[in-house]
Amino acid sequence: MKNYKTVTVNTGKSYPIFIGENLINSVGELISSLVDKCKIAVITDDTVDALFGDKVMLSLKTAGYVPVKFVFKHGEESKNLSTYANAINFLAENELTRTDAVLALGGGVVGDLAGFVSATYLRGIKYIQVPTTLLSATDSSVGGKTAVDIPSGKNLVGAFCQPSVVVCDSLVIKNLPKTVFNDGMGEVLKYALLDEKVFSLIENGDYDLTDLIYLCVDYKRKIVEIDEFEKCERRLLNLGHTPAHAIEKLSNYTVTHGNAVATGVKIMVEYSFNEKILSHGEYARICKVMEKFNITPCSFSAKELALNALNDKKRSGENIKIIVVNKVGDCGQKTVAVSSLEKVFYGCNR
Ligand code: GLY
Repeated sequence: MKNYKTVTVNTGKSYPIFIGENLINSVGELISSLVDKCKIAVITDDTVDALFGDKVMLSLKTAGYVPVKFVFKHGEESKNLSTYANAINFLAENELTRTDAVLALGGGVVGDLAGFVSATYLRGIKYIQVPTTLLSATDSSVGGKTAVDIPSGKNLVGAFCQPSVVVCDSLVIKNLPKTVFNDGMGEVLKYALLDEKVFSLIENGDYDLTDLIYLCVDYKRKIVEIDEFEKCERRLLNLGHTPAHAIEKLSNYTVTHGNAVATGVKIMVEYSFNEKILSHGEYARICKVMEKFNITPCSFSAKELALNALNDKKRSGENIKIIVVNKVGDCGQKTVAVSSLEKVFYGCNR
């Protein structure tokens, strides 16, 4: 068996995350002690299918599973109720039963959609995450958030449903096109501000990608073990996400999630500094590291962002919880009135 690192997540259900190079051809073997032999519906998009579909199908067959494959058009615009219904129908037509499973092969869109399919089909069947982008490897494949978008906003229909196992091939991530890789760095920037170990790795440069993914995932593990259903601590993982979701929606999803998160994190750093939550020294240290991230300037005004954040899931009545940066490795929650969001986003064009 190949070399890999393992993070074990102990939520209501306990599951391993395997991270290492050249794991994509061994998915069947890696999951075989965790998922009994069954029919597996591989859910993927057309881009990922062309690259890895055959490899994963072969690996599953070789390990004794019966794989079937549902492919949809890549992109956030496919993460909707119509693709969801088509996928559910596909499972029913292929007679998947409660002892069968779904395998999400792809990035955040595939993982969220396939996860929601498995959370709801026959009231829930197990699923496996095989992330193929940096964004899904470091964040969305772990922790059990599943969802689809509706016209009013992103991820407004969904469920918490933990996977049974996550297999992350870091060589697949290393070989991604630059734009796709960089998109994932938005979530990495979030983890860098939440966890000093991730920050130092990037600050010092010259790191191993498996180590970077491992540290991000291990931080997320700690948070979701404390708060699986986002009642409190898990909200920290939403750092930068309120402005990010507004940017994505305003741009008609032409700004991708990771790029929007990077911009959103920067907005929250500017706000934290402006509010004197973040000291001059820490702000300077963070700005230096943020220069490594190619953060896309925001092309919307603070007012536009504030108006679009009104549908945010994190809103509660007239208030919303935002995440501020106290210092590197220490972020906190702050409740503000939704009417003051324009002020929070004031630094969006800096
Ligand atoms: N992506 C943030 C979370 O999983 O809570």
